[in-house]
Parts: sequence; C-alpha cells; structure tokens
Amino acid sequence: MELLKKRILEEGIVVSDQVLKLDGLLNHQVDPQLTMEMGREFAARFADQGVTRIVTVESSGIAVAFATAYEMNVPLVFARRKKTLLADPDALCERVPSFTKGIVTDIMISRQYISPEDKVLFIDDIIANGDAARGMIKIINRSGAELAGFGVVVEKCFEAGARTIREQGVRVESLARIRSLAGGQIAFEE
Ligand code: G4P
Ligand code: NA
Ligand code: NA
Repeated sequence: MELLKKRILEEGIVVSDQVLKLDGLLNHQVDPQLTMEMGREFAARFADQGVTRIVTVESSGIAVAFATAYEMNVPLVFARRKKTLLADPDALCERVPSFTKGIVTDIMISRQYISPEDKVLFIDDIIANGDAARGMIKIINRSGAELAGFGVVVEKCFEAGARTIREQGVRVESLARIRSLAGGQIAFEE
C-alpha cells in the first residue's frame, strides 16, 4: 500500500535496528482517513472468503480492525488482556510472552463472541516475534471457528513472526513489509 509506505517514511522513527516507532499512525494517534483506507485494502484482499467476524487484540489493532469490519459489514471482537483472570467458564485464554516488553499477559475472548460457525479474519497493527499473534490464532482454533487469514498493517520481515505463521499454513497479508531498519534507514521489501 503505497500511501501507507509514504506515511511510514514521513512519520516513522527508527529507534534501533529492531524497533520502528509508529505512534503517529498506529500506536498513539489514529488518522481516520488512512485507517479506513487500510480497512478497505484488507476487505478487498479477503473479499469472497465468507468472513463473518473480525478479531484483534486490544489495543493498537482495534482501529484498523474496526475499519476492516465496517468495510466487510461484520462485527469486530477484540481479545482483552487481563493481568488476573477471574474464573470464567466461557473464556478462551492464552498466555502470551512479550519479547519486547519482557512481561507475560493473558489474552482472552469469550465463547459468546466466537463460535464454530464463524469464519474469522484476524487483523493486527504490527507483527514482530508473533507471540501475541500465535496466541490469538490458538484461541481462534480452540473456538472451533475457521481462520480465513491474518491481515497485518506492518510486517517486520527480519523478525520471525509472520514467517512462522505462514509456515502454519495461515494466509498472511501485510500492507507494508519492512526488510531492514539498519543504519536508521527504513527499507521496504520489494
Ligand atoms: P508480537 O509480534 O506478537 O506483537 O510480539 P512482540 O512481543 O514482539 O511485540 C510486543 C509488542 O510490541 C506488540 O504490541 C507489538 O506490536 C509491538 N512491537 C514490536 N515491534 C515493534 C516495532 O518495531 N514498532 C512498534 N511500534 N511496535 C512494535 P502489543 O503488545 O500488541 O501492544 P499494543 O500496541 O496492541 O497495545
Ligand atoms: Na502494537
Ligand atoms: Na497489536
């Protein structure tokens, strides 16, 4: 998505060879026009898949997941992060280590909002190591729903997340693929 790449070049801040700060468009501020454009792109790529629900993980995935859900005219369900989980027989939970934050969180979706009749499209903002994404995919699988695919705004190709998920047989579509941040330069995959 050329518009997105342009905005990443203009507003992204390379923090290190591994980390690209994208607060201006993904992690702190939301540009509604750009975000709706992302939603249209995901909706187009996964059109005719019979998607019945969009899922994401709070918080930064919610805006683009909403845009996609709006465009596909289906509900959006966001997995919640909980420090301590009260016993809830209806909750599907997975423990997710965060490589970058050095902490462990539990993400959960209630079975009320995801069922074996669903065909689910998982949308997220950034994939790095992919721990959160793999946790989310486990929850979708355990729910009995079918996974149509995974749409992610920014794929860091030099980290293992997207590759390992593709190796599981999941269709991964990213809107911007970053090959390298070396030397403070944002280099996209061709
Ligand atoms: P992940 O690939 O499964 O997301 O796992 P990882 O542990 O590597 O990343 C932890 C968090 O850091 C994730 O956000 C992820 O999106 C974010 N992150 C990783 N690398 C980058 C980066 O280069 N730039 C930015 N801006 N974020 C990065 P999260 O925990 O899901 O939090 P939230 O943003 O949804 O609140
Ligand atoms: Na994030
Ligand atoms: Na996220």
